[in-house]
Amino acid sequence: MEFTRARIEAAQKAGNAMPEAFRRAQTAENRLSGRQDQPGKVIALLNQKGGAGKTTLATHLAGELAMTGSRVTLLDADPQGSALDWAQRRLQNGRGRLYGVFGLARDSLHQEAPQIALEADYVVIDGPPRVAALARSALLAADLVLIPVQPSAYDVWASHEMVTLIAEARVFRPQLRAAFVINRRVVGTVIGREARAALADQPFAALHAEVSQRIVFADSVAAGRLACEASPKCAAAREIAALTQAVQEILR
Ligand SMILES: Nc1ncnc2c1ncn2[C@@H]1O[C@H](COP(=O)(O)OP(=O)(O)O)[C@@H](O)[C@H]1O
Ligand SMILES: [Mg+2]
Repeated sequence: MEFTRARIEAAQKAGNAMPEAFRRAQTAENRLSGRQDQPGKVIALLNQKGGAGKTTLATHLAGELAMTGSRVTLLDADPQGSALDWAQRRLQNGRGRLYGVFGLARDSLHQEAPQIALEADYVVIDGPPRVAALARSALLAADLVLIPVQPSAYDVWASHEMVTLIAEARVFRPQLRAAFVINRRVVGTVIGREARAALADQPFAALHAEVSQRIVFADSVAAGRLACEASPKCAAAREIAALTQAVQEILR
């Protein structure tokens, strides 16, 4: 057991290079612990617009799922590697490992992710900043696509390329689910009429669970932690828990 754990840690440290090693190590551990090989669900956070909140929501969603007992792997499909940086800062700051984070910014994502999902309950993909082969590849692997958007009509319209891509993917993958997630709503406000109208025009809905603009989210990346680790019962932590529940209900 210790040996396989050590291999998982080694695979995680190797980041980009070793998803295969990670898979083998985790298979061995699952076998020892008697866990069944059930394919997990693949959740992709996608929006070609940088700064929408893909990495913030991916790391927090993965964290909440892991803390509530699920086996989670996060795939960093952004060549900039922000989620990998988050994981590294976490280790540097002496925080425990919550889930494996691997760099997989490659067009082979759609082949790798389902394989990794055999050894996890959830695979969360932190998407790339552009609509490109990588985003298409993520769409081929995903059970659910979440599109984080800031609550402005402009930001909703700016996601139109991703919306088109999802519509295309659904032609041959009708089971693919998709939803907007409002991120960075200003605390104490409701989202404006224009943004709501822009969302109403879209082919899929926005989740009721919204995430507010909060300092604790902005601080979390640099500190390699989650909002709930800064303050377990804070409003940010409650929002992430509600978002996670909504996601689990969709995928049930
Ligand atoms: N809900 C939020 N509250 C405060 N800051 C946020 C929130 N969501 C994202 N941010 C900040 O906005 C910036 C971009 O977010 P990020 O998750 O990296 O977006 P993306 O991955 O889509 O480029 C980061 O500095 C992050 O800390
Ligand atoms: Mg990012």
